[in-house]
Amino acid sequence: MKPKNLVPLQIRKLRPELVALTRRLRWWRLRLPTVTLQEITGWPAPRSHPEPILDGICMPPYTSSSLDDFDSLMSIVQWLQPTTVLELGTARGNTVANICRLMPSAHVYSVDAPTEKLSGKLTTYQLKEEQIGSVYRKYGYGDRVTQILENTLCLDLSSYFSGPVLDLGIVDACHDAEFVINDFLKVQPFVRHGGVVLLHDTHPSMGRHYHGSYRACMLLRHQGHDIRYLAGTSWALWINGWPSPGTRTPH
Ligand SMILES: C[S@@+](CC[C@H](N)C(=O)[O-])C[C@H]1O[C@@H](n2cnc3c(N)ncnc32)[C@H](O)[C@@H]1O
Repeated sequence: MKPKNLVPLQIRKLRPELVALTRRLRWWRLRLPTVTLQEITGWPAPRSHPEPILDGICMPPYTSSSLDDFDSLMSIVQWLQPTTVLELGTARGNTVANICRLMPSAHVYSVDAPTEKLSGKLTTYQLKEEQIGSVYRKYGYGDRVTQILENTLCLDLSSYFSGPVLDLGIVDACHDAEFVINDFLKVQPFVRHGGVVLLHDTHPSMGRHYHGSYRACMLLRHQGHDIRYLAGTSWALWINGWPSPGTRTPH
């Protein structure tokens, strides 16, 4: 005898997959081209780096996903050798702490909004002021970070930068498409030639929390911004002046 509710349960389980598939089909024409880490850095494999600071880490492969966001990020950082970094969406500051450790001369501008200033849906966390950046402070990097406690919708980066000085921008705040578009367009004018913007939680599966940022990147690309998907990760990236594959050297 057929068990009761079997069909509805199966459909319920399949629903997220079906939603993601529908999104992919609807947006197929605008999907991002893929670039590999090797094409960017010219290195055959990700560079080794010290064991990461794990406090408050929220990046694959240290979360449930098998993607390799953390090692790819650290390789790009080693290749770029940034001195000025901006991260939108810092949370407890794990990524900032790991960048400060890897790049002893880097200064990081960190933007995150405490709960009362947050808006949007895909915000990941709701943190109190004292929780934001607690990891980089714990590891002694507080004096290398300019902390900006602001909603990125209200952010005016011209108060901090007078021109294109950023080597690396990381967009990892609210993942609703309109926020990601706002964030990219605010960061882009301040990126130096050869500098990079990385956009997190951007994956062509468009499942779960990946759809807002991926959709934003497709729309930005459609407007003429050459944003590409980084293979094997949930990063998309834009380089100010893309080189021919394999020909780039760090500055
Ligand atoms: C995914 S977490 C960032 C993780 C961090 N990049 C890391 O690697 O450790 C997203 C953060 O963005 C912040 N956020 C969300 N929406 C924001 C907004 N509109 N303005 C500023 N920060 C925002 C949240 O408070 C949360 O801490």
